[in-house]
Amino acid sequence: MLRRNIRAWSWRGIALGVACATPLAAAAAQRDAQGHAWWRHAVFYEVYPRSFGDANNDGLGDLSGITQHLDYLRDLGVDAIWITPCYPSPQVDFGYDVSDYENIAPEYGSLADFDRLQAEAKKRGIRIIFDFVVNHTSDKHPWFLESQASRTNAKRDWYVWRDGKGPTQPPNNWTSIFGGSAWQYDRATQQYYYHAFYPEQPDLNWRNPAVETAMLDVTRWWYTRGVSGFRLDAVNTLFEDPGLRDNPTVPGRNAYGDQNQVRKYDDNLPENHRVLRELRKVTDAHDAVLIGETWTDDVQQLKAYYGANHDEVHMPMDLMFTGLGRVPGGHQRLDAPTFRRHVAAMEASGEWPVYVVSNHDIPRVATRFADGRHDDAIAKAIGAFYLTLRGTPVMYYGEELGMQNNDPQRKEDVRDPIGIKGWPTEKGRDGERTPMQWTAAPDAGFNTGAKPWLPVPPSARTHNAQTEGQDSSSVLSLYKAVLKLRHENPAVREGGYVPLNEGDPNVMSYLRRYRDAAVLVVINMSGEDRTATFDLSAQGLRGAAGRPIIQSAASGDLSSVKLGPYGIFIADVKTAP
Ligand code: BGC
Repeated sequence: MLRRNIRAWSWRGIALGVACATPLAAAAAQRDAQGHAWWRHAVFYEVYPRSFGDANNDGLGDLSGITQHLDYLRDLGVDAIWITPCYPSPQVDFGYDVSDYENIAPEYGSLADFDRLQAEAKKRGIRIIFDFVVNHTSDKHPWFLESQASRTNAKRDWYVWRDGKGPTQPPNNWTSIFGGSAWQYDRATQQYYYHAFYPEQPDLNWRNPAVETAMLDVTRWWYTRGVSGFRLDAVNTLFEDPGLRDNPTVPGRNAYGDQNQVRKYDDNLPENHRVLRELRKVTDAHDAVLIGETWTDDVQQLKAYYGANHDEVHMPMDLMFTGLGRVPGGHQRLDAPTFRRHVAAMEASGEWPVYVVSNHDIPRVATRFADGRHDDAIAKAIGAFYLTLRGTPVMYYGEELGMQNNDPQRKEDVRDPIGIKGWPTEKGRDGERTPMQWTAAPDAGFNTGAKPWLPVPPSARTHNAQTEGQDSSSVLSLYKAVLKLRHENPAVREGGYVPLNEGDPNVMSYLRRYRDAAVLVVINMSGEDRTATFDLSAQGLRGAAGRPIIQSAASGDLSSVKLGPYGIFIADVKTAP
């Protein structure tokens, strides 16, 4: 059983966004019968292209490998896939260092492969979302090479160059999110450039209008080619304090040995919001969607990313959700009161939630919550929970299989530079990026050629799409059933959220209600047997009876639902005629 600390993967600042009043951008959007844009009821699924499917058997996933598995995604109930960066890149940060925004990395294929993927996805009703690395480029991007060439180069001001405070002294105390000073000295031009992440990822200067024009044009280019939106990478770090004031420091050191700082002057600056509104205008003109990598401290901060006039990010991801239920030691546990409070706060915000349970930067959810005894039941309970809440979910590949982390055991096996730098406190992100587990065959059917770039864990023999597809009690079967319900049941699709039994410390229960349709969701968030009783007369459902639609380790009727450890009971509720 893998147990590890949860990475403190967040670079939150304390500055809040300023709410500005601009008119709603004109949208040529397709609307459903309820007047909602297409993404409102879509299920999004993150694909890490290096690890999803390897069509050319070179050990690295590729776009054709995604195309090969589209039927699986359709059958699972996925409407849109967000592909993490697949642009040409030196791959220092596995694609988050882009050297050409308008092409495909040769190791992942070609633009023709992209067109094929998109055409095949479209046939199956699946849209493609790209990852837009807005904050920085690669140091090998031609823009940066020009910028670095001389102090007088026309692109010098496309990046953030400053003089040092003195010989060998960077301009200020800011540290990189990936460790060390955030300033890199350039010997040839004798200035420092700023990088919020690796030195190989210089920050673009978004105060320069030419940068904004060039970047907005990139989005137009891909919209014209057919992508349906972007996940915006690291949106809180677009701007830095023009006065370059030192960040306040706080006691303690991080995994890289740097003194801890409050990211007051290099994170979450109000200027971010103006850029988001510009990106939004272009996006709305293409009936596309923006998903935000929005690390926030609270719901109010998250709310700011929707925009005061709903004119910024359509889907700012609720990444706070990934950290709920932490216990000392870094593990997490399902805790009904904590989750209930958080959902209530999201509901009270009046925004459309975007729940996420894991991604390529944080350990897999099935590992974070595992107790070693009920791992599959816990994986199912988490899926049944967040996929029946109001909002649009963003899944992470393999989550539907209960895939767990496969962390490197030795420093020499680590591929992610933050793991190499921070070992052993920070083991890097390899563990959550291992190949998708397709079959019980060697290397989980990822390919039939070269060894995959990261090793497949032994648990792939039981936790894979083929084996689980044949088992009606598997994590995969539960996910499929819940996603089907999301798409087909009006209460789960459109309904409001009504919390029930709010004093119950162990069982999370709620109704989803839309017009005369109601679905009851009951999830035992504990490792013990529990019973929940319901009297729905206060909800206007006098004499209600429930027809179970999905149940796992649960039985009974509304007057007494018996749940085994992490049991799930989802029922259609009807009042007596
Ligand atoms: C991405 C990471 C990446 C970082 C720098 C993050 O938000 O999700 O994987 O390392 O941005 O681009």
